[in-house]
Amino acid sequence: MDLGIQGKISVVTGGGKGIGEAIALRLASEGAKVVLADLDSEAAKKAADAIQAQGGNALAVPCNTTNPDQVDALMEKTGETYGAVDILVNNVGGGTGIDLVVRSKVEDWDKTVEMNLKTAYLCCRAAAKVMIPRKRGRIINMSSISGKQGEPLLGSYCAAKFGVIGFTQTLARELARYDITVNAVCPGYVFTPGWEKLAQALKDSQPALADKSLLEIFEARVRSVTPLRRPQEASEIAGLVAYLASYEARSITGQAISIDGGIATG
Ligand SMILES: NC(=O)c1ccc[n+]([C@@H]2O[C@H](COP(=O)([O-])OP(=O)(O)OC[C@H]3O[C@@H](n4cnc5c(N)ncnc54)[C@H](O)[C@@H]3O)[C@@H](O)[C@H]2O)c1
Repeated sequence: MDLGIQGKISVVTGGGKGIGEAIALRLASEGAKVVLADLDSEAAKKAADAIQAQGGNALAVPCNTTNPDQVDALMEKTGETYGAVDILVNNVGGGTGIDLVVRSKVEDWDKTVEMNLKTAYLCCRAAAKVMIPRKRGRIINMSSISGKQGEPLLGSYCAAKFGVIGFTQTLARELARYDITVNAVCPGYVFTPGWEKLAQALKDSQPALADKSLLEIFEARVRSVTPLRRPQEASEIAGLVAYLASYEARSITGQAISIDGGIATG
């Protein structure tokens, strides 16, 4: 199916690794021009080089998406290099501090909310300013299964990912009159560098996991909670994002779509 995103200008935050890298690759393979914005400039450059080597069009931009000035500079750089942004994928996110709420630290709460929620707010705000006068655009925000159900030890992450969905619904209603769609994607379990960090934190805090590998910890978790009993590949998430960015998906807005092997039913 031709998704109709050939030549579209896209920005993928956290595009250097994990799910973001897979999204950047997929959009580029559909013919989009892709800006990979990442704190880890080396990873972003490596991913952009890989896209270019396959004949795609990609640019790595070092950017901390929690910083308003750097986010504005990212949109400017995108405009100067390719033109106005058509597709924004707010993929940056993750958790800091795995603990019970009663033992958790305020610094970890602040960092997690900033990384997942403030980052989406800043990038949406900057991109919407560019999209509104053109009366078109696609915004896809990365939430999670943790944006649909609470999870012990992940209080700040769940709060932030629920917040991403509420923010997505609000922005979808504000931008609908400009033909800009805004949706959230809610993956279940994907084994990425981010999940490896989470598995390490679980291993460090739970003596029963001391002799398990990080992949074993991940797989056991997936089997215990997922009806389909398998994890998701980053490429599956990228496929859903590419669809939401397409012309076919023009009537879908304000949604939070689960892609989690059947965990969330609402
Ligand atoms: N992996 C999963 O199972 C899973 C499940 C549900 C939701 N998610 C969500 O999907 C998204 C991607 O997850 P992942 O597992 O691929 O993450 P990851 O940690 O593997 O990769 C994240 C990327 O974002 C970059 N990054 C981090 N902070 C940044 C910042 N402030 N500015 C710019 N770049 C920054 C990192 O350098 C890295 O390249 C996140 O929002 C995560 O919460 C992941």
